[in-house]
Amino acid sequence: MFSVLDFVLVLFLIGTVDAGVPAGGRPFDDNYVVTWGNVLKLDQGREVQLSMDKTSGAGFQSKHKFGSGFFQMRIKLPPKDTAGVVTAFYLTSKGDTQDELDFEFLGDREGKPIQIQTNVFINGQGNREQKFVLWFDPSTDFHTYGILWNPYQIAFYVDNVPIRIFKNNKRYGVGYPSKPMTLVVSLWNGEGWATDGGKAKINWSYAPFKANFERFSDSGCHADGLNINAKVCGSTTYWWNTIQYSRLSANETTAFKNVRAKYMTYDYCSDHPRYPVPPTECRLNQ
Ligand SMILES: *[C@@H]1O[C@H](CO)[C@@H](O)[C@H](O)[C@H]1NC(C)=O
Ligand SMILES: *[C@@H]1O[C@H](CO)[C@@H](O)[C@H](O)[C@H]1NC(C)=O
Repeated sequence: MFSVLDFVLVLFLIGTVDAGVPAGGRPFDDNYVVTWGNVLKLDQGREVQLSMDKTSGAGFQSKHKFGSGFFQMRIKLPPKDTAGVVTAFYLTSKGDTQDELDFEFLGDREGKPIQIQTNVFINGQGNREQKFVLWFDPSTDFHTYGILWNPYQIAFYVDNVPIRIFKNNKRYGVGYPSKPMTLVVSLWNGEGWATDGGKAKINWSYAPFKANFERFSDSGCHADGLNINAKVCGSTTYWWNTIQYSRLSANETTAFKNVRAKYMTYDYCSDHPRYPVPPTECRLNQ
C-alpha cells in the first residue's frame, strides 16, 4: 500500500520540530495517576505498561485539568492480533455534555493495519470521525502522538505530522472546546464496535495485550476549577499559544496534505449518505 518513496517523503518532512518535549520526559507520578487495571511502571517511572486480559483493561489520567496545551506522548501499541482491542489517548471534560478530543487506535487481525480514529466532541456531540492508517507499524516502536489545543486551532499530530486540523471558527457559529479537560489514556475491550464494525472479536489466546507509554510531560495550562480562565490559558506566555502554533507552517501544510491524500481511510466530511449537507466546519477547516 505505501511505497518507499512515500515513507522517505514523510521522514523528510518530519525532521524539524520536536515541540519542546524534554528528552526522557518526567516521571509518571509527577503528572499522572493510575485510574484502573494493571499498570506496570518501568524505567523508574519514565515508562508505563498497560495490560488487558479477560478480567480488566487498564488506564491512567493526568492529575490536572487543562485549558489549552500541546499534549504529547510516546506510545507503542500491542502487537500481533489485536482485533477488538482499543488503545485510547484523549482529552475529555467528562460527563455527557463533554468536550473531548480523541485518538483511538483500533486494533486489527495480524497483518491488517491498525487504524487511528480521531474525533472531536463539543458539548456532548461527536460524530466527527476521521480515520487513518499509518505509514509505519505502530506496534514495533514508540511513536509520538500529540494533540494541540489553543485559542486558534486543534491539531492532531503523528510524529510531528499534522493529520487533522479543527480550527476555532466560533465567529461562524461552529462549536469549539471550552471546558477544562483531563488527559486520559486507556486500553480496553472495544470488540463490540472497533474492528470491522464489531464483527472481529478479541482472540484471547493473544492476551494479555500490552501497550507502552513514555514522556509524561505537563505542557498544558492548568484549569482545575469549573471554568477556564481564557485570559490565562490563551496567553502567549505559553509556547503552544504563540503565533507559530496558530496555523500550520509551509512544511506542515505539505505533510498534512500528503498524509490526508494517502493515508486517510474515512472522513465524516465526505460521508454524503450520513451528512447530505456537510457540517459547516468541514468547509471552514479546508
Ligand atoms: C522545512 O523542512 C526542512 C527540512 O527539515 C527545513 O530545512 C526547512 O527550513 C523547513 N522549511 C520551513 C518553511 O519550515
Ligand atoms: C486465535 O489465535 C490462535 C493462535 O493463532 C488460533 O489458533 C485460533 O484459531 C484463533 N481463534 C480464533 C477464534 O480465531
